Amino acid sequence: MIESKPRLAPEAPVAVSPTESAAAAAPPPEAAAERTLTLKVFRGDAKDGRLEDYTVPISPGMVVLDAVHWIQAHRAPDLAVRWNCKAAKCGSCSAEVNGKPALMCKSRLDHMPPDQPVTVRPMKTFPVIKDLVTDVSWHFEINKRIPPFKPRPGAEWKWMQTDIDRAQEFRKCIECFCCQDVCHVLRSHELKHQFAGPRFLVRIAGLEMHPIDGEDRLKFVKDSSGIALCNITKCCTEVCPEDIHITDNAIIPLKERVVDRFYDPIAMVWRAITGKK
Ligand code: SF4
Ligand code: SF4
Ligand code: FES
Repeated sequence: MIESKPRLAPEAPVAVSPTESAAAAAPPPEAAAERTLTLKVFRGDAKDGRLEDYTVPISPGMVVLDAVHWIQAHRAPDLAVRWNCKAAKCGSCSAEVNGKPALMCKSRLDHMPPDQPVTVRPMKTFPVIKDLVTDVSWHFEINKRIPPFKPRPGAEWKWMQTDIDRAQEFRKCIECFCCQDVCHVLRSHELKHQFAGPRFLVRIAGLEMHPIDGEDRLKFVKDSSGIALCNITKCCTEVCPEDIHITDNAIIPLKERVVDRFYDPIAMVWRAITGKK
């Protein structure tokens, strides 16, 4: 069983206040802007909160994170937001933009309807710390329970390109947790104590499909990851900013491996006769 421990992990990036660089990169005040947009941003904490309206001047190419930085610099210096790279690579700036989990630094404002406000809320599945910052430390507790990479003794560190490509897809994960946020098993049913979630099934798949890994994680997958709770809705795949085919390439193959090992009667008979695993 998987238990949650509400604690901030040391790996988790911290909430940041407006920085000089953010202020320097901010677009000009509303008066000089050709166009403005209203952002409805969640302000509050785990106990109480509301959406507050901010009118933001828009420049070509701006993303939601730019607008949030503008708000920090010009209207609400205490607005809490977590970010790091502004290049869709650190996974820190996940939020719900117009109701959908997304990286704020990858959400272009000019791709949104010009006459409607943009809502920005923290990820719903995890406890709010302040404003747009959530406590995602539960993930790091799950991660610690996954048996790590263990090369087969004597394995040659030379692989076919196809084997590299297969494992490489899973290593693109930036741990933004958008998939965890959207998954109904965690979001609606709140089964964090039973289900590791798509991000960690991706990690397990990457280890299981590594060409020279020798660890056997299938019992962990069957008994401790909660993989049976996934009903392959593919919502996780739809929101992944790294375009990882979470359901088709990670979860379904893991489910098939569990079935082959533990529930296939023909395989069971074959193993009993041959004595092979
Ligand atoms: S496919 Fe499975 S893991 Fe992905 S969102 Fe649906 S239930 Fe969750
Ligand atoms: S699998 Fe995709 S959506 Fe999930 S944490 Fe990794 S990058 Fe984010
Ligand atoms: S700031 Fe790094 S992913 Fe958005």
